[in-house]
Amino acid sequence: MAKIIITGGAGFIGSHVCDKLLLDNHKLAIIDNLSSGTIDNLSQSAGIKLYKLDTEKDDLSTIFEVENPDYVIHLAAQTSVNYSLQNPCYDANVNIISSIKLLELCKNYGVKRLIAASTAAVYGTPEYTPIDEKHPLHPISQYGLSKLTMEKYIEMSGIPYIIFRFSNAYGPRQKTSKESGVISIFHEAMINDEPINIYGDGMQVRDFVYVEDIAKIFSESIKIRKENFIVNFSTNIGTRLNDLYDKMKIIYNHNKTPQYLPKRNGDIKDSILSNKKAMEIFSVSNFTSLENGLEKLNKFYTDTKNFKTSKRSVKCK
Ligand SMILES: NC(=O)c1ccc[n+]([C@@H]2O[C@H](COP(=O)([O-])OP(=O)(O)OC[C@H]3O[C@@H](n4cnc5c(N)ncnc54)[C@H](O)[C@@H]3O)[C@@H](O)[C@H]2O)c1
Repeated sequence: MAKIIITGGAGFIGSHVCDKLLLDNHKLAIIDNLSSGTIDNLSQSAGIKLYKLDTEKDDLSTIFEVENPDYVIHLAAQTSVNYSLQNPCYDANVNIISSIKLLELCKNYGVKRLIAASTAAVYGTPEYTPIDEKHPLHPISQYGLSKLTMEKYIEMSGIPYIIFRFSNAYGPRQKTSKESGVISIFHEAMINDEPINIYGDGMQVRDFVYVEDIAKIFSESIKIRKENFIVNFSTNIGTRLNDLYDKMKIIYNHNKTPQYLPKRNGDIKDSILSNKKAMEIFSVSNFTSLENGLEKLNKFYTDTKNFKTSKRSVKCK
């Protein structure tokens, strides 16, 4: 059993990581300002504490003093590509400055390992696919640049680390307000029987990875001995948005014609990440197929709708 601080643990990916780490019997302390995450995402387990604090504005040293964590999982971030184009200062403060502050705390409190979430956006426009870790790093958005800068600070810090570059995650609890969650945006529109907006011609390719597979890899990253590396985490399978739409419309029994809108700045045409290195390092071999993941998402939605008042909450410290 380890003591783990998780920044951004009340968010989409973070809450699934917490669920998995609780199953592994770890003790968790979440630091989250609840800007996009929510208490409702969190389990009521006694093994979890939530500190409603901001990684950029608040002094987190007391939390490190009290919690004395073995590991830190760093997920809190400004996660929107579009928002980063309009608000580069905010993006840099949250994604770079907060990460540097966290590294200082990890150093001062002797954290054994920092495990951080980065993104496929650090690669920029792919020169080839699937993109492996040796691909040139030329981000085309401030979000990609701030995450790449975070990676460099982590590498230079001397703190043992693992950095994951994720492709497009999807699954239950993903918000619909950000463009990264195209599946949750389609999901929301389809359950409300609204037409789907597709930016560009819909021929762009994405590599969708199910959120519980991501949670499992964080669990593995606590267990393994190897450290100080950066690794992609993805399925290595590309799906065109038009094909995604076709799969989802069958599951949701949706029959509205999609609306095609102009392509947005900062959007990458095709993104497939190689998972060869991840498969070599970790004992994860079976990824949730897109069809299964979509079915699970739909089932989660139906179950939650039926048990809307079910209590999934944890008290703030
Ligand atoms: N979702 C994806 O497809 C994807 C892909 C690649 C990388 N990532 C990375 O994974 C991580 C988690 O992403 P997510 O999709 O779960 O996003 P999310 O917005 O659901 O989660 C982010 C969490 O961080 C919290 N947060 C944001 N700013 C904070 C701050 N200053 N102080 C404290 N808490 C703060 C939010 O309230 C939220 O709970 C991020 O670092 C993101 O860049 C996500």
